[in-house]
Amino acid sequence: MIKQVCCIGAGYVGGPTMSVFADKCKDINFNVVDVNADRIAAWNSKDLSKLPIFEPGLDEIVKRCRGKNLTFSTEVHKCISEADIIFISVNTPTKTKGIGAGKASDLKWVESCARQISEHARGYTIVVEKSTLPVRTGEVIKDILDSSQSSLNSKKKNSFDILSNPEFLAEGTAIDDLENPDRILIGGSNENAIKVLHDLYKRWVSEEKIIHTNLWSSELAKLTANAFLAQRLSSINSISALCEVTGADVREVSRAIGKDRRIGSKFLNVGPGFGGSCFKKDILNLVYLANHFGLPEVADFWESVVYLNSWNQDRLTRIILEKLFGTLTEKKIGILGFSFKANTNDTRESPAIQICKNLLNEGAFLKIHDPKVSQKQIALDLGIPSIEECLNEENLNKKNKDKKWEKSLLRNDFFENLDAVVVLTEWSIYSDIDWGKVSKKMRSPGWVFDTRLIVDEEKVINSGLCFWRVGVGTLKRN
Ligand code: NAD
Ligand code: UGA
Repeated sequence: MIKQVCCIGAGYVGGPTMSVFADKCKDINFNVVDVNADRIAAWNSKDLSKLPIFEPGLDEIVKRCRGKNLTFSTEVHKCISEADIIFISVNTPTKTKGIGAGKASDLKWVESCARQISEHARGYTIVVEKSTLPVRTGEVIKDILDSSQSSLNSKKKNSFDILSNPEFLAEGTAIDDLENPDRILIGGSNENAIKVLHDLYKRWVSEEKIIHTNLWSSELAKLTANAFLAQRLSSINSISALCEVTGADVREVSRAIGKDRRIGSKFLNVGPGFGGSCFKKDILNLVYLANHFGLPEVADFWESVVYLNSWNQDRLTRIILEKLFGTLTEKKIGILGFSFKANTNDTRESPAIQICKNLLNEGAFLKIHDPKVSQKQIALDLGIPSIEECLNEENLNKKNKDKKWEKSLLRNDFFENLDAVVVLTEWSIYSDIDWGKVSKKMRSPGWVFDTRLIVDEEKVINSGLCFWRVGVGTLKRN
């Protein structure tokens, strides 16, 4: 009988995943542990708007379960020693130095978890890889766990089974993805261990969605899923550039190809390029593995997906530069959206970072708005000491006691004297902007650059502003 579950890592995956588990399995305790005391304090904050992760629906679940069968703490060793199952849900970023730097995954956090488990686990423990890992990492974890036991006498020996159970949630829809997953993947060789994890998921996921594979297939399937999704985005983004110069409209092209059931309509929205903590790192990891196993052609194929993505971000900067008469020096540009996608406060690998850096390099003065990202985070991402002109819901409301974000922005003179506005994240509020009012504040000729195809075309055109859209090009005024 499973009574205690420990999850190492209280991040974007560990926190929401264990919250949903706790909500679905009330008779089991889920203890989420992390070495980052600030993050744990935020998970325990009374004010649920202060949780470290913004994810629609998460606060309600935390409210229901926290303090009952869901805990957040820094007591890593204690929770490991009590656990029947341990999920490893720590970060696996790209290595920044040494062999494989820039491509291979840095497994130091995973190794450190394995060492802590080997030291503190008691009895029989199922260890689950929740983090996204290079294929055959299970072997490394097993070696560490087994080697720690070889010196113990047989009475004190503990035993372990290792499973791979990669997470497929997307940020912004994490709770829905966890409650209604397309599939649950469990990789491993021990039937009993697989059954234990299978039975946990079975409480809310129908059995035909729970797939069993060997450990290596499961590890590789996760990398492959992310690579396929990212490849689709680079494919459609490459076509968007072609649309802009030929008079085709990428929305019409997407609709036409998406109707083919073999292609499907999802993941065909063009944008400034994919961001997020995982697509780039997971593809680069795949590239590293392919090279490592002597398959350079396979490596090159996947690397081109990442190359196209960076090219797309630089391409957008070049277009802005060209439209603003070839110079951005001292021009004022308003950036709408800084998170890597809507409905998250996560900025990791956000295309906004590279694009804003490019614009700053050209001498532009930026004003940045994002409903959920803090000024501190934006300054950190842009590598500058502080940022005065970044506004989000919290500080706008503090200043104006006004919930209507657009009024607040206008009252704060956000648009005052801007030469251009660039929409970088598809927050729904940016679809409702009254461009008529905004245009009166901007310098002429003012430009709107829509990299997400969410801006209301008619309102921009009627306002007299110049309009450029990704995958469509410049909309000429009559
Ligand atoms: P994250 O950086 O948000 O969280 C990881 C947490 O692990 C951090 O808070 C860190 O302090 C903690 N940690 C690291 N080593 C530790 C240790 N030894 N003991 C205790 N705590 C430790 O990362 P994330 O976004 O949650 O991603 C975790 C894994 O899940 C990665 O492998 C990622 O590729 C994968 N993944 C992420 C997503 C996503 O949407 N972010 C989705 C699917 C899979
Ligand atoms: C992605 C995958 O969708 C998840 O299945 C996976 O678990 C996760 O990575 C992971 O391993 O971390 P996520 O990065 O949270 O999830 O978000 P996505 O919705 O996939 O978006 C990624 C990027 O692609 C964003 O920058 C988004 O704006 C962009 N995107 C997405 C588009 O430009 N167009 C689209 O049609 C879809």
